[in-house]
Amino acid sequence: MTIKTPLVIAVDGPAASGKGTIAKALARHYGLPHMDTGKLYRACGLAVRLAGHDPYDAEAAADAAKAIDATLLDDPDLMNSLNSDYASIVSSHPAVRAALFETQRAFAQQPGGAVLDGRDIGTVIAPDALAKLFVTASPEVRAQRRHAELAGRARETGGADQTLADVMADIAARDARDSGRSAAPLVRAPDAALLDTSDLGIRAAVDAAIALVERARQHGGR
Ligand code: DC
Repeated sequence: MTIKTPLVIAVDGPAASGKGTIAKALARHYGLPHMDTGKLYRACGLAVRLAGHDPYDAEAAADAAKAIDATLLDDPDLMNSLNSDYASIVSSHPAVRAALFETQRAFAQQPGGAVLDGRDIGTVIAPDALAKLFVTASPEVRAQRRHAELAGRARETGGADQTLADVMADIAARDARDSGRSAAPLVRAPDAALLDTSDLGIRAAVDAAIALVERARQHGGR
């Protein structure tokens, strides 16, 4: 009898690297469920903000993380840049990470496999994932992508647009916080394949990601 190892794909990387788009496309390609784990931290940040708490208050943030309201996951403010900051700050508290661990771990351990994207999937949530990708792009390219995305959203909602320089500064601050924190910082797992999407369009980036997953499957994840 052969035991089939479930296909778990861990996709990590910094903001606007393309990891979310790639993770969604991989999930579609392999017919796997997908979890954007950043949304959990964003929902926690939004709950803290709506309650008027300070995101640096670890206790208030952990209480919010223990009682994530699923409706917040679809809130239009979830993805905006103020909430990106709140999410990044609350995510630095170990108690917040501990509160959100089980949900992510259970998703990763589904018998049929799964795709998860975030910052610590290959290192903490699913260290035994069969395929691990670390998706990155230059800070300039990431800022341009996020700027275009925010401008599109501002056009739809009539909200204020941000300058490219502001977006660049936001991303740099978030990178420094996400990589510099002591609890599960953003780092490339030693066994993660690096995918730099700076010069790749969406189709080419997804094709490259599929090729890397296939290679990991052939080598049994090694
Ligand atoms: O992926 P994102 O940009 O939507 O994530 C928002 C913030 O959440 C990010 O700045 C850091 C945090 N995060 C994290 O610490 N660990 C994860 N697995 C996913 C996100």
